[in-house]
Amino acid sequence: MIHAHPYNIVRPLIQANNVSFSVNSNGSKKILLRDIGTEKMPFLINDITRPDVTNTGQTIAVVGRSGGGKSTLFRMLAGLAKPTTGQILIPKHTRDHDELDKLVEVQEGSVGFVQQNYPLSRNQSVQGMLWDAAVQGNIPRHERMGVIENYLEEWGLKDQRTQSRNQLSGGQRQRLAIMEQLLCSHHFIIFDEPFSGLDPKNVDGLKKVFNQIVTVDEINTILFSTHDLHLAVELADQIFVIGYEKDDQGNYLAGGTVIKEYDLKTMGLAWNPYGDQHQELKEEIKLLIETN
Ligand SMILES: Nc1ncnc2c1ncn2[C@@H]1O[C@H](COP(=O)(O)OP(=O)(O)OP(=O)(O)O)[C@@H](O)[C@H]1O
Ligand SMILES: [Mg+2]
Repeated sequence: MIHAHPYNIVRPLIQANNVSFSVNSNGSKKILLRDIGTEKMPFLINDITRPDVTNTGQTIAVVGRSGGGKSTLFRMLAGLAKPTTGQILIPKHTRDHDELDKLVEVQEGSVGFVQQNYPLSRNQSVQGMLWDAAVQGNIPRHERMGVIENYLEEWGLKDQRTQSRNQLSGGQRQRLAIMEQLLCSHHFIIFDEPFSGLDPKNVDGLKKVFNQIVTVDEINTILFSTHDLHLAVELADQIFVIGYEKDDQGNYLAGGTVIKEYDLKTMGLAWNPYGDQHQELKEEIKLLIETN
């Protein structure tokens, strides 16, 4: 029998309200996503605390078949694409914990976005890049060097500080990208399919990175997409499944939406090693994706 860990909900951190996204395609409107965040199916990520655990950040997985709209949703959550209707809200300031309760519409740059392929072109040093990220993130000048030192230490890049990005290994480069995003966007970070194409050792490395992100600050929130449902169930404490809904006549509605949300915290699966119940959930999600 699995042991469910107690937790408290503190405040909403990311919330979508009636979000849809359409594009113009060959002169007609094409709905890519609809009804994200409704009364029936809220899209809500809460800051939570756990008794006797110092920092419990959030790890959220978004799954669903290819073309369902995961990347499109992420672009909106990162403020890179504006919803056609509705709003995506996040706290006004995540650095100032007193301001966490004031929710505002997400702006480009306030949520980090780590893509799979990091640009190799920049010749600047690791330290220089982190400095720029800290400037962009409004970290006061007198605090900047100290914050960067801590990051270099925490993420194991102290010895690489004067190297440029193309003198780093793939894993070091990924850590640098994460550090940059954490510095300039504070606490929310989106990974679009970060595990695809990684060898098993790098998968383990990235799992540790995820764990590190969500244990250094309780506001820290990871959203990631994956086609690997085992990883989704193993790592996430909340899972959104994107798919298509049918109308009363059984016809598919245009545009993807959240067809199911699993809160692994209430299910007692979060913060526990992968076991039989995780496997059952994985099979349930697999079936859901295949039949929608
Ligand atoms: N600018 C665009 N114009 C027209 N259609 C688009 C545009 N951008 C995305 N799409 C379509 O929107 C749908 C959702 O794409 P999206 O990239 O969000 O899917 P996804 O769930 O991330 O898929 P995958 O798992 O393959 O990464 C797809 O059918 C895609 O072809
Ligand atoms: Mg995608």
